[in-house]
Amino acid sequence: MRINKYLALCGAASRRKAEQLVLDGRVQINGKKVDALACDVGDNDTVSLDGKKVEPIHKHIYLMVNKPKGFICTVSDEKDRKTVMELVPQKYKDKRLFPVGRLDYDTEGLLLMTTDGDFCNRLMHPRNEIPKTYAARIEGDITEDELNKIRAGVILDGRKTNRCKAKVVAADGKVSRVEIVISEGRNRQVRRMFEAINREVVFLKRVAIGDIRLGGLGRGLVRELTPDEVEYLRRV
Ligand code: URA
Repeated sequence: MRINKYLALCGAASRRKAEQLVLDGRVQINGKKVDALACDVGDNDTVSLDGKKVEPIHKHIYLMVNKPKGFICTVSDEKDRKTVMELVPQKYKDKRLFPVGRLDYDTEGLLLMTTDGDFCNRLMHPRNEIPKTYAARIEGDITEDELNKIRAGVILDGRKTNRCKAKVVAADGKVSRVEIVISEGRNRQVRRMFEAINREVVFLKRVAIGDIRLGGLGRGLVRELTPDEVEYLRRV
């Protein structure tokens, strides 16, 4: 089996990223640095990444995490901030889990984590416009005119956002609770969409990705996706 496919089966990276790991000289077979992408791995070979043995994951792991505010979505942080890896229960700690996409530091809610690089790449591909539902809180009242601007799209980084759904689900004069469904995944997109109409999001939580809902999963808790949920996400 080709080395990049083998590394992908180990959950080390997608096949494309695995090629880069080889080119960067981080991969060894039987202790010898691999210097060609065309290299094959045999049944009795031992493959290491950065000196650590890697083995094919026969059963990938798919987790739903209710990310609290104050955690960043990365495997390790050079500034030593808390990462979502700290939320992963001990029994998964030796697995090569990584977050599927990002929620910003201040945003909470539904985050997927997996060992399956191909699953992650498919879900994150810009062509795959899976709707993501957010509960946002905005100070004061928000008018239909303002929401219409959000729905029609606002300019972020010189490019208009796609049309989206947005509705007020509760308002008491002090705070408006808005449900917004977007199909793109630009950096801090919901917050910046409201900033574009001079309104600040004071609380943001992702409650669904497609039909997969956070439901009653407590803040900071983790559960495995059901086989049906994994199958659904593979098909969207
Ligand atoms: N929009 C944001 O503003 N932040 C997120 O984390 C996700 C979407």
